[in-house]
Amino acid sequence: MTTRDKLIVGNWKMHGNHAANADLLQGILAARPFVAQAAVCVPFPYLSEAAVALANSGVNWGAQDVSAHEQGAYTGEVSAAMLHEFGCRYAIVGHSERRALHGESDQLVADKAKAALARGITPIVCVGETLAQRDAGETEAVVKRQLSAVIHTLAHCIGEIVVAYEPVWAIGTGRTATPEQAQAVHAVLRAQLAAASAHASSMKLLYGGSVKPDNAATLMSQPDIDGALVGGAALKAADFVAIIRAAA
Ligand code: PGA
Repeated sequence: MTTRDKLIVGNWKMHGNHAANADLLQGILAARPFVAQAAVCVPFPYLSEAAVALANSGVNWGAQDVSAHEQGAYTGEVSAAMLHEFGCRYAIVGHSERRALHGESDQLVADKAKAALARGITPIVCVGETLAQRDAGETEAVVKRQLSAVIHTLAHCIGEIVVAYEPVWAIGTGRTATPEQAQAVHAVLRAQLAAASAHASSMKLLYGGSVKPDNAATLMSQPDIDGALVGGAALKAADFVAIIRAAA
């Protein structure tokens, strides 16, 4: 069996300010060393301060989105080349909030993942079903369709991405998937990746959706859950650190 290092990623969403960010990052840094890998995905304007605060700390930083385009007349977009200049390690793509609120299609998400990889940034590709889709028994079909676009677009590079399974009904709701529900979907995703890549067994599959200090360890003890994508609990240093430690 392959052992995969655990990875905990904080998704700050549209939260923060200079003072709060400095406190949060200091709180995380003060708790090192960590056994698990850790990263924070911050709003674009704060990338440079994250880069300065986290330089050589072992904690990585990333963005929450990236343009599918290389450069050009795309007002408001941020390219992978720009992120690369900040030493950005990760870019979340296809978060359900962007799929739902900004109409991002499976193909656009795949194109964003490709743009990130082309600049050496690891895309964290989010997939997940809504409650209506789960109730209709469509969970597997939905996540497979979302991942399939990425598999086809990235072809032999698919092994270089991180996948995050985030059931939409669990995001920000305090309602977590049970470890068994999450594991079942992770197993489906890993099997789908295995059909496309020889590296599937070493790829990281994160779970996201109301991960908290008190449920993190059981979720991450599942065989195919290699870490967490954390929203709300990533805004409090003590909680985020507790989740990083729960991964060890
Ligand atoms: P949550 O968010 O931990 O607040 O549920 C997770 C996410 O949206 O990535």
